[in-house]
Amino acid sequence: MSKQDLPGSDLEPIEKASRDELQALQLERMQWSLSHAYANVPHYRDKFDAAGVHPSDLKELVDLAKFPFTTKVDLRDTYPYGMFATPMREVVRVHASSGTTGKPTVVGYTKNDITMWAGVMARSLRASGGSADDIILNSYGYGLFTGGLGAHYGGEFLGATVIPMSGGQTEKQVQLICDFNPTILLCTPSYSLTIADELLRQGRAPDKTSLRVGIFGAEPWTNEMRKEIEFRLGIDAVDIYGLSEVIGPGVACECLETKDGPHIWEDHFYPEIIDPKTGEVLPDGAEGELVFTSLTKEAMPIIRYRTRDLTRLMPGTARSMRRMSKITGRTDDMLIIRGVNVFPTQIEEILLKHPKLCAQYQLHVSRDGHMDKLEVYVEVKAEISAATSAFERDAIGKEVAHHIKSLIGVTSLVHVVETDKVERTLVGKARRVIDSRWW
Ligand code: DLL
Repeated sequence: MSKQDLPGSDLEPIEKASRDELQALQLERMQWSLSHAYANVPHYRDKFDAAGVHPSDLKELVDLAKFPFTTKVDLRDTYPYGMFATPMREVVRVHASSGTTGKPTVVGYTKNDITMWAGVMARSLRASGGSADDIILNSYGYGLFTGGLGAHYGGEFLGATVIPMSGGQTEKQVQLICDFNPTILLCTPSYSLTIADELLRQGRAPDKTSLRVGIFGAEPWTNEMRKEIEFRLGIDAVDIYGLSEVIGPGVACECLETKDGPHIWEDHFYPEIIDPKTGEVLPDGAEGELVFTSLTKEAMPIIRYRTRDLTRLMPGTARSMRRMSKITGRTDDMLIIRGVNVFPTQIEEILLKHPKLCAQYQLHVSRDGHMDKLEVYVEVKAEISAATSAFERDAIGKEVAHHIKSLIGVTSLVHVVETDKVERTLVGKARRVIDSRWW
């Protein structure tokens, strides 16, 4: 079999199907997915029973609204494997993403899930103009994060050549760009600009490399940023969306020819938009919270998962499947710092484990060049504040920054300050986060 004959090289029939054909497939798959979850995951069975619904109540797609939502809390309550619908023997991989506290959210995949994921990721690469002829520099992080391995398997499925670089080591990224001649770059949008800076620093013209396309996601970005990336790197910049709980990267991706919002691969992931306050399903076009139901996942079917991402659904253009607009915000307090998902509560947990620190803290997120910068301001306990020297506070700060890096994976600068130095809110909630990045 030549590289070009490998699966994934051509547009799949479902990508060309009519809405009616697609909806018929979605209904059949949704009935399967609900039954699979109900039969094999006690947590789903209990929730469905409590809500008085049964998978057989799903007669048409709109009936999905009768079923209860799933949130990160459900994943935390069943940590680590309680949401799995297959025996561990059939689970061939796990990944994890940030939970709201120390315990991460765990997701699992069967062999078929990995193949399906590689397929939708390959479809995303193809939508972005990729083919077996491409050399992909994959600079998404490898490891528990779904970005690296998810994109990697998709690239191989497409038959492209994948360079498994992972994130960081920017000088080396540039060396590989110059020596290995990649045509596609995969990383977060902000990191692509750091790479452009490094190319310039090394005396190379960022817009004169072998790169043709960049497929960027894992954090929010705007069309203004797209213009900047395209101009500086001389490439087409395409938006890819995904989340671990649903599969990882490749839930939705823009098509190169239109670049008008990611097309959702609706044959595997069924989207809804809800009012985040009432939970009511909103019509296409209305802005609200994106909710996904997996239609084919075996190891961890996910039913009406509240992504917390705010967006709207739009009709398909380059494909019949619907598009989502760029993410405009979140309904929770999750921050994405250098591509790493961070909940303030995770940091709080680390701070409060330190015997000399108290719960008066504030996170400042800003931009340092193109990269995000996290600074933590935290007070020493009032009773020891006067007796704690600046030198000692500095040492505590370094120690805490080390814990934050090793437990959450994000670099920070921790300023340990005296009592009353962190802003107090007199009424209502403490202002825990000051995010001065442009979005
Ligand atoms: O970020 C998966 C991914 C990897 C997507 C590589 C694209 C490329 P998580 O770590 O679980 O998974 O984070 C998911 O990241 O709910 C969004 O808030 C945000 N996010 C992901 N892609 C985009 C995007 C991966 N294109 C969370 N635009 C999601 C805006 C994005 N936000």
